[in-house]
Amino acid sequence: MSGETLIERAARRLEELRLSRPDGARGRSSPDESVAAHEARTAPRPADGYAGGPRRPAGTHSQLVELDLKRLATAGFITPDAPRSRVADEFRIIKRPLIANASGGGETPVQNGNLIMVTSAVPKEGKTFCAINLAMSIALEFDRSVLLVDADVAKPSLLQVLGLPLSEGLLDILQDKSRDLSQVLLRTNVEKLSLLTSGTPHRRATELLASDAMARLLEELASRYSDRIIIFDSPPLLVATEAPVLATQLGQIVLIVQAEITLQSEVRQALAAIESCPVKLIVLNQVGFSGKSASGFRYGYGYGYGYGEGGHGT
Ligand SMILES: Nc1ncnc2c1ncn2[C@@H]1O[C@H](COP(=O)(O)OP(=O)(O)OP(=O)(O)O)[C@@H](O)[C@H]1O
Ligand SMILES: [Mg+2]
Repeated sequence: MSGETLIERAARRLEELRLSRPDGARGRSSPDESVAAHEARTAPRPADGYAGGPRRPAGTHSQLVELDLKRLATAGFITPDAPRSRVADEFRIIKRPLIANASGGGETPVQNGNLIMVTSAVPKEGKTFCAINLAMSIALEFDRSVLLVDADVAKPSLLQVLGLPLSEGLLDILQDKSRDLSQVLLRTNVEKLSLLTSGTPHRRATELLASDAMARLLEELASRYSDRIIIFDSPPLLVATEAPVLATQLGQIVLIVQAEITLQSEVRQALAAIESCPVKLIVLNQVGFSGKSASGFRYGYGYGYGYGEGGHGT
């Protein structure tokens, strides 16, 4: 399958969705969306110490943090106690080809297949929402450990969404060679799920993400942690110059596209930016987003996928 076919398929799907809207309109501030934003804001609250509070020092062993799973479930995330939901079902399908490629079970071996980037063309398309759900889904159902990395270093949100206090992480090990990854990893109360936060804010954060130190870290993650699936919640491709650089080093890319909102031209540009990545999975997020779940949360999640050269699809 050629890259061009993939782009055209994605564009056609988006156009169909856009035309299926009563007004065929594009907009990022529909009444529905503001309700979603409000629900998300009022659900998981950051724990004490998030807003400029004291930092937890990193020890020599991975720390254990407690995720408030009830709150996360209310906010629409997959959790161990609520493994059966529409979102869980959809991520079960999305993760399958990714895991096959990460484990060498795809049609063609994928270099660094255990390193998975979750990105989008522009901001606010649901990257963090999908990265957390993908990580949780894999950690719960497969006999695989998962490391979820907040690589959106200029605009990190993972800890805030998960309701955890600030902690050292990626930027700290990138700027200090003496720091070891294991010192800043956070274990969680979900047995197979660990976190690597974006770390202490740094004025050269975006340069650090595209640095040689990052390339070395990725090599280490791909080899020393080869039995783990590592998911990177990443910056948007068309806004952050470091995102396409990161994309060239990761084995698989999940491109989140906000259905009915993201422009075809934006999707085309984003796909062009990640052309060299061997495996690309396009996920259409918030398809038919007007439906409500029993809990009052709207999932309306949908997916569509296609692969570039190599035909890694299932
Ligand atoms: N499928 C979905 N169902 C319910 N809520 C969703 C869904 N996708 C995204 N959201 C909500 O939409 C908002 C934006 O999503 P999210 O923060 O994941 O986007 P993002 O791409 O990571 O944004 P940014 O570019 O700012 O990092 C959040 O409040 C999130 O909870
Ligand atoms: Mg985000």
